[in-house]
Amino acid sequence: MDNKVLETIKARRSIRAYQKKQLNKEQINALVEAALASPSAMNLQPWHFIVVQNQSIVNELGQGVVAYFKNIGDENIIQRLESRNNKVFYDAPCVIVISAKPEGMYQIDVGIAAQNIAVAAKSMGLDSVILGLPRVVFEGEIAENWKNKLQFPEGHEYGLAVAVGYAAMEKEPHERDHSKVTFIK
Ligand SMILES: Cc1cc2nc3c(=O)[nH]c(=O)nc-3n(C[C@H](O)[C@H](O)[C@H](O)COP(=O)(O)O)c2cc1C
Repeated sequence: MDNKVLETIKARRSIRAYQKKQLNKEQINALVEAALASPSAMNLQPWHFIVVQNQSIVNELGQGVVAYFKNIGDENIIQRLESRNNKVFYDAPCVIVISAKPEGMYQIDVGIAAQNIAVAAKSMGLDSVILGLPRVVFEGEIAENWKNKLQFPEGHEYGLAVAVGYAAMEKEPHERDHSKVTFIK
């Protein structure tokens, strides 16, 4: 089937290395529009999209995440992070943090919005990775500091982040496991 949307969905991969090149205003606007077009349960639109292009904030946030796992001694994640040079955001020039008010089905809504951003990015020749790991610094004692720094609206929690940029690596698609499908006729 010749269908650009399906091709884009299938071509998306989680990319974990980016070129230094920054996105332009038009690209950022297109990503924001794709995010805002997402469906949400009861149309609550519980989200807020925080577009971060400031590299020192992104780096500091990444370091905070690494420090958190070192501090609690989570060897599994420490090793996984080390294998990725302790880069939580993979040097992406643009990170869209999605915060959300905990109401309705907000976590699902956030996930859908993240995928809208990821697919929109791919459709524009950009790549992305959805990031759940940074959540840890938006919980517990250190949460307020980070929520303030990223200007979370009152009462919002971390949902997900999507790092976007120009890929500096290639990647095969993940295996499509057709045993995970049932057809009932
Ligand atoms: C909700 C969610 C959270 C994720 N969090 C992270 C993360 O913190 N760091 C990361 O490198 N990848 C993260 N990923 C990317 C997954 O590892 C990736 O989607 C999976 O390995 C499949 O690979 P693909 O996206 O290239 O198809 C996350 C993906 C999702 C959907």
